[in-house]
Amino acid sequence: MKNLQLNTEGKLKHFLSIDGLSKEILTEILDTAESFSSMSEKQVKKVPLLRGKTIVNLFFENSTRTRTTFELAATRLSADVLSINIATSATSKGESLLDTIRNLEAMHVDMFIVRHAISGAGHFIAQNTAPHISVINAGDGQHAHPTQAMLDMFTIRQYKHDFSQLKVAIIGDILHSRVARSQIQALNTLGCKEVRVIAPKTLLPSHVESLGVTAFNCIEEGLEDVDVIIMLRLQKERMTSALLPSEREYFKCFGLTEERLKLAKGNAIVMHPGPINRGVEIESSIADGPQSVILKQVSNGIIVRMAIMSLTLQNNGEA
Ligand code: NCD
Repeated sequence: MKNLQLNTEGKLKHFLSIDGLSKEILTEILDTAESFSSMSEKQVKKVPLLRGKTIVNLFFENSTRTRTTFELAATRLSADVLSINIATSATSKGESLLDTIRNLEAMHVDMFIVRHAISGAGHFIAQNTAPHISVINAGDGQHAHPTQAMLDMFTIRQYKHDFSQLKVAIIGDILHSRVARSQIQALNTLGCKEVRVIAPKTLLPSHVESLGVTAFNCIEEGLEDVDVIIMLRLQKERMTSALLPSEREYFKCFGLTEERLKLAKGNAIVMHPGPINRGVEIESSIADGPQSVILKQVSNGIIVRMAIMSLTLQNNGEA
């Protein structure tokens, strides 16, 4: 089946999911992001790559980091950015998603960045929008969050260099996490040695091993000797029934504590896509501690999103 994300030459023109993308494409994103990294420290933080382009942030769900780093990334590429506030837009007056898209197309925009509670919303827009417009998925339901996964891969590569030697543990609410799904695909595509997921049975999807991971229900066992620890938030807004006794009980059994951190390799890094819930999935001192790279992930989000935006627009023959 033709991958909707690729142009006729097999290059990325939309960025909707890690699924179906090659190691070469993922590596190209990481390398392009790296080429932007020295720029972030300069006085003048702009390059003219997307001058004259109009990028629309369409966030149908709340976001802090993702929306603002997309906005900054677009600005640093010299594009014009429109951030639509859905709460005060015509969507709240009953306008359909397709009609919203048609109206924005009529304003000659070049890219949609979409976050939506429904899985597949980005794919739907990519299928239905004008061919010169690139669509980036900024998180769709429980399905995918590919730009988050790529900024995580960038951060891992920055600290650990070679994926083929790495053991990575993802801990927490895997069941509801679009971030975990995209991370697992990216880690496996980049050739990671071992991907582990650690969670209570109620927070693991059924047949989770088919995603290419080893599952653990005991955090002490799962943390043994890992190089990278990725913590996830309990996505209570997505839980339709009581899957956990209490947050206190969860922290007792699955929270990352100083004691447990010692089970991982001495130079292991601790990551989290945010928002973090201190004392629920992670001890505060670890979030702020020397092994935490949580804020580095946020900074890296800008250059990785710059890379994804510039590559997709270039490959769409429009940049
Ligand atoms: C994540 C998301 O929205 O999927 N956050 C993010 O984008 N940084 C994870 C979460 O909400 O827990």
